[in-house]
Amino acid sequence: MNFQDELAKRTEETEKVIRSFLPAEAGFAGTMAQAMNYSMLAGGKRLRPMLIRETYRLFDGKEEVVKPFMAGMEMIHTHSLIHDDLPALDDDDYRRGRLTTHKVYGEAMGVLSGVALLNYAYETMFQAFALTKEQDRVIHALRVVSQKTGIHGMLGGQSVDVENDGKPLEKEMLDYIYRNKTSALIEASMMTGAILAGANEQEVSAVEKAAGNIGLAFQIQDDILDVTSTAEELGKPVHSDEKNNKVTYVTLFGTEKAAEQVEELSEKAIDLLKSLNKNNEFLYLLIEKLINRRK
Ligand code: IPE
Ligand code: IPE
Ligand code: MG
Ligand code: MG
Ligand code: MG
Repeated sequence: MNFQDELAKRTEETEKVIRSFLPAEAGFAGTMAQAMNYSMLAGGKRLRPMLIRETYRLFDGKEEVVKPFMAGMEMIHTHSLIHDDLPALDDDDYRRGRLTTHKVYGEAMGVLSGVALLNYAYETMFQAFALTKEQDRVIHALRVVSQKTGIHGMLGGQSVDVENDGKPLEKEMLDYIYRNKTSALIEASMMTGAILAGANEQEVSAVEKAAGNIGLAFQIQDDILDVTSTAEELGKPVHSDEKNNKVTYVTLFGTEKAAEQVEELSEKAIDLLKSLNKNNEFLYLLIEKLINRRK
């Protein structure tokens, strides 16, 4: 398999799925729909929807039911980015190679379009009921997504993150932050793929563990890129963490040790997935390639 070609192909397929679920830019609320779509259509790696589909494939899933979940998950993720960039949080001006949503549409629209995307994600995911006979699996997946997004997941992590700007942090709290602000949506994505394909409890739990490690590795690599990359390459500002006086894996352990952790956590995740005795070569390669990602 030529991984780069395959990645480009599967990213394009994911783009198409996402685009097919976006709101129409019409009516009195058309400006808000534009603001929602502005960020949704700015690109991005589309990692979370891709993880939904590839985990679904790992468990031999073959239906269309994953599609609304793929689009919905990218909406939740994009909502988290729009809000993460607001002046009240990280106060960043660029995202996905463009000015941030609040810079173009103003702060009020930044807040509103972000929440609207979070809500539209659920409106979208509810469409999954019409695409499968396995209604219980859809309910289970919705429950996981909602839990991993809220106070016991991504939003919990984001709140502790901003609350501690400029304060010293122990590794234990930093891990809580990373496992929630970043791992939670990756866990929700891979668990959703597994659940919709009919994986059993033990398998879903192994997938959750693997995804937790992938998420932690992903955030540590994000911290590394914040100090080693360029704004051009990343499509978002570098040194955002330093600007906000954040403690990160890089400030706690240094770039080299942090990079070692990324590798260790990723290898652990791949081993865990391989221990399921299923096969998805592309998924294993995707996780491995994230170790040295440059954006
Ligand atoms: C950025 O996520 C936020 C983090 C959790 C580090 P991504 O790096 O996946 O951003 P996009 O979707 O590619 O823009
Ligand atoms: C934020 O982490 C993770 C979420 C948006 C939930 P960062 O603040 O480090 O993400 P970037 O670097 O702005 O993408
Ligand atoms: Mg942040
Ligand atoms: Mg940020
Ligand atoms: Mg960052």
